[in-house]
Amino acid sequence: MKRAFVIGHPIAHSRSPLIHGHWIDTYRVGGSYEAIDVAPAALPDFFERLKGGEFVGGNVTIPHKEQVVALVDELDPLAEEIGAVNTLVLRDAGVRGFNTDYMGFLGNLDQNAPGWDLGLDEVVVLGAGGASRAILVALKSRAVGKIHLLNRTVGKAEDLAIELGGPIACGGLDEFAARAGGARLIVNTSSVGMKDTRFEGLDLSVVPADAVVTDLVYVPLVTPLLADARQRGLRTVDGLGMLLHQAVPGFEAWFGVRPEVTPELRALVEATL
Ligand code: ATR
Repeated sequence: MKRAFVIGHPIAHSRSPLIHGHWIDTYRVGGSYEAIDVAPAALPDFFERLKGGEFVGGNVTIPHKEQVVALVDELDPLAEEIGAVNTLVLRDAGVRGFNTDYMGFLGNLDQNAPGWDLGLDEVVVLGAGGASRAILVALKSRAVGKIHLLNRTVGKAEDLAIELGGPIACGGLDEFAARAGGARLIVNTSSVGMKDTRFEGLDLSVVPADAVVTDLVYVPLVTPLLADARQRGLRTVDGLGMLLHQAVPGFEAWFGVRPEVTPELRALVEATL
């Protein structure tokens, strides 16, 4: 039987077993997917098990996504650019590391806001932490004209822009109104929105009427940012879809079937939020 896993520390909160378990049943692939708690010091030993053929691959979550980059035998170029790996696949040549977060981000928008990237000229990205990197790489892959990267700590945004290159202009969150007037996509990659936090003074009235607003935060599913955007009649896409879509390439690589993100799967995961 083909076995796959998600490793993290802690791991109990992970929804990946639910997602992959649903697809294992749906597509009758005769595999398994298990959550394994691996402490950082135990990561090299776990890699030996993986290389020994016990598993076909798996997912990597907090706090291992960066550390794993140095442990894989082959690194997908986009994972290298992002600097983080969330998916491992065992191949003849060894373990290959991918980052499917950027695919999840794009897949979510493609499914839930079709046409979002047609002639997309300007985008505002809020937040310049770890999650922001995959989003910037994803946006660059769709040839966006200009990305306004706004962060509480402007210096962190500037460092990221220099590292990644491309059409990224940096600023503070207080520059939102000055920057967002031509943006047809607004993305929150920061942790603002979790645990009753919200952006203070973010003026969505300047955003074009046909803009899409999306949030990586999915607990709560409707963040204050998304609620505000909806109230203004803007199209919104919540972050749960990204979680579901980032799982697709891994499942396909391990089990040989490209799974679908269906309303049924979404409801299953939503019930656990
Ligand atoms: P992640 O890996 O989830 O992106 P992170 O690397 O800690 O986590 O980044 C968190 C992001 O949320 C950062 O952009 C952070 O801004 P700073 O770089 O200024 O720290 C942002 N963030 C967290 N709390 C915030 C708050 N209360 N207001 C504004 N931005 C906040």
